[in-house]
Amino acid sequence: MTQKSDSAAHVAPVESPPATAAELARRQFLGKMSLTLGVVGGAAISVPGVGFVLAPLFRDAPQAWRSLGKIDAFALGATVNVVFLDASPLPWAGVTAKSAAWLRRTGDEEFVAFSVNCAHLGCPVRWMADADLFMCPCHGGVYYADGRGAAGPPPHPLRQYPVRVRNGEVEISAEPIPLK
Ligand code: FES
Repeated sequence: MTQKSDSAAHVAPVESPPATAAELARRQFLGKMSLTLGVVGGAAISVPGVGFVLAPLFRDAPQAWRSLGKIDAFALGATVNVVFLDASPLPWAGVTAKSAAWLRRTGDEEFVAFSVNCAHLGCPVRWMADADLFMCPCHGGVYYADGRGAAGPPPHPLRQYPVRVRNGEVEISAEPIPLK
């Protein structure tokens, strides 16, 4: 038993013969090839994902005119909530493809449309006809009837949408409204 362990302890490590120049060159070539394939593979996987995330930054915001109905459907001076389809609705978007605005008829063929989103953090504002004010329920933001800030934290007036009349119909420009 003791003899066996003595002989095992004295086994000299087998040394591999030194690599020839051709083997070294082959190893270097394979190393560089692995690195190149790794970089190409990583780029092939990551570039489409990065492109998908960054593409909207370089695309013009979509815009489309949406009909809100006949002029006569809106009473002079009344401020009403209108709902319309986004400029570029996705087939699977469902109700999220809809936007809303506060529309007021100010003349025979004149209208003004305000964003429903508060200029502070985007909560939906309500039109209080009795007070002649827009009010935000989240942090107490208040706006005058023309959209100017009256009180609370909103840093700027309510955004407005372009509105026009075509062939007896009121149309709103369905474009993204920046919050800031
Ligand atoms: S979101 Fe309207 S006041 Fe803050």
